[in-house]
Amino acid sequence: MKNSKDIVATAQQVLSSIGAPVTVMGSINADLTVETERLPRPGETVIGGPVVTLPGGKSANQAVTCSLLGAKTKLIGALGNDSHGDLLLDSLNKAGVDTAGIRRCEEPSGSTMITVDAAGENTIVYSAGANALVNADFVREESQIITSAKILGLCLEAPLDAVEEAARIAHDAGVQVVLNFSPITQVPESLLKLVDVLIVNQHELAVLGGQEIDVTNLDELRKAVADLGFEQVVLTLGGSGSLVLDSGEVTRIPIFEVDTVDTTGAGDSFMGSLLSALAAGCSLSEGACLAAAVSSLATVRMGAQSSYWSAREVRDFLSQQTR
Ligand code: RIB
Repeated sequence: MKNSKDIVATAQQVLSSIGAPVTVMGSINADLTVETERLPRPGETVIGGPVVTLPGGKSANQAVTCSLLGAKTKLIGALGNDSHGDLLLDSLNKAGVDTAGIRRCEEPSGSTMITVDAAGENTIVYSAGANALVNADFVREESQIITSAKILGLCLEAPLDAVEEAARIAHDAGVQVVLNFSPITQVPESLLKLVDVLIVNQHELAVLGGQEIDVTNLDELRKAVADLGFEQVVLTLGGSGSLVLDSGEVTRIPIFEVDTVDTTGAGDSFMGSLLSALAAGCSLSEGACLAAAVSSLATVRMGAQSSYWSAREVRDFLSQQTR
């Protein structure tokens, strides 16, 4: 494990280098969010607070993070011609994301039902809506947005044919492809072969590898990743930080201690930070140092995009850590 002084210094360096172009393709959702004391068990009713509609969607969250950190960011996706669509577009525009690759359509905008408990944990149910209309043809028509970037961020909330086509266009153009294996979906080998960097949690890794992996056993972990054919993997471990596997080397990066209110979108801010750092030429473990800070900070406010900090705020937070 790197020591915390090193992590802060690395995160500061990485943050100052961000600026290279990033493209994200995928989901944009209105998050209908309610806070409860604890999450309901199956069949149970619990009492919650007011329902708030917040801007979310894994891909949109990643793009907003990149842009707030200073990367020139473009997003490819679809929104409905509805009030959720207006809210979501407004959030992207305010964050400075280039939204020329976003189409409005007759389907309702994508949405989620999110329950957040007193400890900041959540459950999320996703309804694709307009996101389902992003297909391979759509992606091909927007291919210039992919080939003009240094790196492409993908997740599995978008239809698989669109994800694979975007990955192929990027791969063929020498643009690095980063896949967040979430939400868990069966994916074809042909897609995995196009991925340079995989971001997974422990559960997703078990599904991908077809067996539970003891992540405390680094040899077992290295083997599992090699068997999947990946050289670069980031394993996110929630409150236990992340493990970066890069060409057989494993680095553990802890989280920053903060007062957590809501973990929604923290993983997306982790991925957005990594995308921005890799685009700037930083290594995976360097990027994970910044990602640890940015994603920890994303848990101290409610929601996904509404919880993200600007580059200046992240910089101030990091400099306070060294005092
Ligand atoms: O990762 C959090 C995101 O997942 C939420 O914003 C929600 O929209 C779902 O896509």
